[in-house]
Amino acid sequence: KYEKIWLTFGIGCLFVFLTVVGVSAFAEGNQPPSCLTTIDPEKVDQTPPFNKPGLVKTGNNEYQLNMVASAFTFTPNQIEIPKGAKVTINITSKDVIHGFEVAGTNVNMMVEPGYVNSFTKTFNQPGEYTIVCNEYCGAGHHMMYGRIKVV
Ligand code: CUA
Repeated sequence: KYEKIWLTFGIGCLFVFLTVVGVSAFAEGNQPPSCLTTIDPEKVDQTPPFNKPGLVKTGNNEYQLNMVASAFTFTPNQIEIPKGAKVTINITSKDVIHGFEVAGTNVNMMVEPGYVNSFTKTFNQPGEYTIVCNEYCGAGHHMMYGRIKVV
């Protein structure tokens, strides 16, 4: 008899817990902002869109910038973006954790092997921006950078 009460209580608790988790995830958008997709880090070169990294036009003034980080470089390394373009940056790593920061902007992401991290940014300000890796990733960390040119 007691067992039945405890079982009911247990299931009740589980239900409440799941409801709380579910509601907070959906209603409050509680999911992590990045780590949208998983990817096999050893097969990045064969996995679209990272088999052809670069800027892709996806709509009127909208672009996708697919990038690969690896010790100690970003691919592509020099990117030209039309002024006013809304760019969704997707980035993954082939080896260790890197950082992806576009100096002077709010673009700042972790780049983790096994995950694709994304961030959307509209580049309104023409100029040259430096991409830096801001996570220590090894001996060549300080040399790991790239350039975005907004024209
Ligand atoms: Cu890549 Cu530090």
